[in-house]
Amino acid sequence: MNLEEKTKEYVDYAKKVIEKRALIPEEGYQKSTIEAMNYSVSSGGKRLRPVFMKAFFDLYEGQGIIIEYFMSALELIHTFSLVHDDLPALDNDMFRRGKKTTHAVYGEAMAILCGDGLLNRAYELAIEGCLACDEKDRIYGLRALQLLSEKTGIYGMIGGESYDVETEKKKIVPDDKSIDFIFRLKTCALIEAAFTVGAILAKAPKEDIEIIERAGYCTGMAFQIIDDILDVTGDEEILGKPVGSDEKNQKTTYVTLHGLEGAVKDADSYSREAVKALKSLGRDTEYLEELILSLTKRNK
Ligand code: IPE
Ligand code: IPE
Ligand code: MG
Ligand code: MG
Ligand code: MG
Repeated sequence: MNLEEKTKEYVDYAKKVIEKRALIPEEGYQKSTIEAMNYSVSSGGKRLRPVFMKAFFDLYEGQGIIIEYFMSALELIHTFSLVHDDLPALDNDMFRRGKKTTHAVYGEAMAILCGDGLLNRAYELAIEGCLACDEKDRIYGLRALQLLSEKTGIYGMIGGESYDVETEKKKIVPDDKSIDFIFRLKTCALIEAAFTVGAILAKAPKEDIEIIERAGYCTGMAFQIIDDILDVTGDEEILGKPVGSDEKNQKTTYVTLHGLEGAVKDADSYSREAVKALKSLGRDTEYLEELILSLTKRNK
């Protein structure tokens, strides 16, 4: 197996699916918001969450097109989280995915509505996916939808962003426990959703889903730790977003709490824990393991 080749195949497939299902015609009186939605979705990004979702779907030999709807839905939710995260009231960033941020191009009001539009459109797509599959399989779609909503909402990504922003604005210095809470919700939740939704839609056994969720958590922790590291050591051109955004906001990050070396070490150990969890499934998880390990070496 060649990691780069296989990942390229998955990313190309994710891009095709997103283009087909998530972009909408730029017409009508609400055209400006639709343009902002298409701009933020089609502006690149690693497409990591839909890639993981499809790879877990394949791990359990999932069948049917429902996966395409959920891959698009998750990428829309993730994109919504970025559009709002960049707003002046949150991180106030002007550069994302190699382009100007949505609020920088379309203004703050349109960017807020764009995020709302993306979030809602995600659920429209997921429900369309549930309706498109055989009636006997619909329950798996509903379970996936429940999980996706939970991981997105106030007990998931939105809840994590909430405490992240609040601690930063009120200058509350998070400790290990609260930084774990913030990372688990703001970042791990959508990665856990990617892992588990793929497996659920492929009808994986319940015991496996729990292990997969744990692997998603560990992968997400490593992912956010590396994100904090790249905010210090990254190259803006490659990263496609600003370096030093956290410092600008005087944010306490994993790097402030543990130092660069400690952060690298912890990201490695979370990734290895994710791999260990996947090995315990007793399936051919080699590709997923290599992909997870490679993410600690990423430069974007
Ligand atoms: C950025 O996610 C936000 C975090 C959770 C750190 P990604 O690094 O996956 O962003 P894109 O999708 O590639 O732009
Ligand atoms: C945000 O974390 C994670 C989200 C849920 C959007 P960051 O604020 O560190 O993400 P970046 O660095 O702007 O992508
Ligand atoms: Mg942020
Ligand atoms: Mg940010
Ligand atoms: Mg960051």
